[in-house]
Amino acid sequence: MWLLTIATLGGGLAGAGLMALRTRRTSAARSAELAQLEELVQRRADQVTSLSHELRTPLSMIRGAVELLREGTPGPLTPAQERFLQVLDHQSTQVIGLCESLLIQAKIEAGLFVPRLERVDVSVVARDVVTAMRSLCAQRQQRISLDTPQVMPRIPADPMLLAQAFTNLLSNASRFTTTGGSIDVRVTPIDTGVAVYVTDDGAGMTREERHRLFHRFATGRPLADGTGLGLVITKTIVELHGGEIMVHTASRHGTTFLLTLPAGTPTGSPS
Ligand SMILES: Nc1ncnc2c1ncn2[C@@H]1O[C@H](COP(=O)(O)OP(=O)(O)OP(=O)(O)O)[C@@H](O)[C@H]1O
Ligand SMILES: [Mg+2]
Repeated sequence: MWLLTIATLGGGLAGAGLMALRTRRTSAARSAELAQLEELVQRRADQVTSLSHELRTPLSMIRGAVELLREGTPGPLTPAQERFLQVLDHQSTQVIGLCESLLIQAKIEAGLFVPRLERVDVSVVARDVVTAMRSLCAQRQQRISLDTPQVMPRIPADPMLLAQAFTNLLSNASRFTTTGGSIDVRVTPIDTGVAVYVTDDGAGMTREERHRLFHRFATGRPLADGTGLGLVITKTIVELHGGEIMVHTASRHGTTFLLTLPAGTPTGSPS
């Protein structure tokens, strides 16, 4: 069963006379509430931005020092020292990744991440991301395939943001698929624009895991690699493009994520 994750916002128009007065008052209250919320979001984004920036800088220095040690610059290492440094390297890379994800998310929430729309051939973006993922998949002996049509309509999109969304989906597909598994990416034109399918034959998800999806920090493996931000960011990017994201998954049988991106310019975005 496909799980539609996009919430639609309802709204209505008021009538004349008393209704109009009431509406004006309500809308004044709503604007005040909205302004207050915007301020809160902005303040929170500022805090997250400075916190993750403050964390990222010393962490990058720690990782740099670890790299020098592992290269043997100050002298040769014993196997035990090498093992401890591997842990340090891995963990600092994880936290730097988390800081970067938090930064992106905070910027998106504060409305600072305005998509820079161009006429984009989505299959070209998908090809670049698949190419970048090939070596990781090869390390895990996973097969990765890309299916694109010969002619693709160009749609208004931000290629960098789209690449980020595809990378998140593909890195999940690889992480949650065992050695020797398969990942298939299909890009196809549809009536309303473009559809992108990312399918894996990996672990799949239970019903509970599926319902937790797209919630911040809802990682299936709290103590392992993930931070639980990838899909929140992916969903936000798709929504910024006026698109939808859906998932079809079965525990132990694999997962398909479907993104649809409209051919028209998203509402409120520059053309
Ligand atoms: N292709 C998939 N197959 C199985 N489970 C998945 C798949 N994609 C996502 N999940 C589940 O959804 C959870 C949330 O994914 P999400 O990408 O948001 O976070 P994450 O991968 O844990 O961390 P990160 O922030 O590093 O991406 C995952 O931890 C996993 O449990
Ligand atoms: Mg992820």
